[in-house]
Amino acid sequence: MQKVLDYLKQHQDRFLAEFCDYLRFASVSAQPQHKKDLVACAEWLVAHCRNIGLDARVCATDGHPIVVAKTKRDKNSKKPHFLVYGHYDVQPPEPLELWTTPPFEPRIVGRNIFARGSTDNKGQNFAHLKAVEAYLKTGTPLPCDLTFVLEGEEEVGSKNLSTFLKAHRQELACDAIVVSDTGMPAPNHPALTYALRGIIAFEITLHGPARDLHSGIFGGAVENPAMALSQLLAKVRDDRGVIQIPGFYEDVAALSKYERDQIKRYPLSDAKLKKLLGATQLFGEHGFTATEQRSSRPTFEINGLTSGYQGEGSKTIVPAWARAKITCRLVPNQKPAHVRKIVCAWLKQHCPPTVRMEIAAGHGAEAYMVSPTSEAAQAALRALEKAFGTKPILMREGGSIPIVNEFKKVLGADTLLLGIGLPDDNAHSPDEKFNLDCFENGQRMSAFLWQELAV
Ligand code: BES
Ligand code: MN
Repeated sequence: MQKVLDYLKQHQDRFLAEFCDYLRFASVSAQPQHKKDLVACAEWLVAHCRNIGLDARVCATDGHPIVVAKTKRDKNSKKPHFLVYGHYDVQPPEPLELWTTPPFEPRIVGRNIFARGSTDNKGQNFAHLKAVEAYLKTGTPLPCDLTFVLEGEEEVGSKNLSTFLKAHRQELACDAIVVSDTGMPAPNHPALTYALRGIIAFEITLHGPARDLHSGIFGGAVENPAMALSQLLAKVRDDRGVIQIPGFYEDVAALSKYERDQIKRYPLSDAKLKKLLGATQLFGEHGFTATEQRSSRPTFEINGLTSGYQGEGSKTIVPAWARAKITCRLVPNQKPAHVRKIVCAWLKQHCPPTVRMEIAAGHGAEAYMVSPTSEAAQAALRALEKAFGTKPILMREGGSIPIVNEFKKVLGADTLLLGIGLPDDNAHSPDEKFNLDCFENGQRMSAFLWQELAV
């Protein structure tokens, strides 16, 4: 094991140069013009995995390709088998003008590396690849077989990976899945995440007049869809942040006393959070702390709101339509299909007759919850402590990784969520970054993990 740790220490500079190559691919899964960049990124990964000593291949899908890379193994291997899941696709980098330097030209400042996808998720999955490299290049036997599954559609709902899992059930059968695609509270505060929120996504369009109209000639006598949409959305919650859609909270599992106490240990105060987010004030559902709100309560969020003229100066029109991109975060016990049904029914019911409402359904996923006391979880906690030198905390996270539910359903295996991103990493925001101490300790965590898990 010492050889593995020494190898990691010695090769950080090269790892960083390779990481920069990985970050240069503009692998934006949501934007069709980047299709080729995703293919190129997947091919680069396969070549990289082969150099490390893994058997790797690109698997084409109806969407972006999936990379599968495996440690060489005996046909009748009796070793435990673990899957490492990650994603090489990234969120759109826009608005570009808010980036200090271009999103796909990685820049290192002190112990941070700035680029789209650095924390979410390239840096986190690359740390695992470097740990395996250390085993293979030092000839240290791995106590388990490992298969990496790196997909290109996580940020758009993982539809094709779900199909792929079902088609490769046997090949991917495993004892557990390891995912580093979540966070930890601070560089010296490692964490095991035992719950994620679920999600439903949809788009509401309100259609008004057949075309944009002169707002002086016609305004006042015809519905303005942007006004109608604003009024409708404003009814969704009250001024104490409580969602007004009947039944919205119906299935929500209450936090136990134990969990509320755990949450109090989370080392990010409301004051620090407010500063971090640059908000004038925190705001959330009445009766819950900020950490509870963002980890264990469901939400209704407008992610995008579009209507009318967006260019410079003014243009006096009544817009023909208005659109909102919405997601609701869900928590354990809520059923995505049911919540979607009651939310859409409520919106339709409250839509004024002066506009025509169209709702397009997007992706959806249940929340995820796994036992933090299983043997695998205990092994992960030991690996985290060895790598970071501090006792890890247990936490619930607010983000979603839809595929972990499919891992459970299709492969019958639990997922260990061992995130190494930080709250100030700016995931999905301009100037996304990844901390290099997290990168290095993440590699060590992965190296220790296989020893701890395979006993
Ligand atoms: N890495 C995130 C998920 C995450 C982040 C979980 C932080 C916990 C803490 C992932 O890449 C992500 O952004 N997922 C999307 C899923 C959606 C597009 C279906 C999300 O949560 O918005
Ligand atoms: Mn993401």
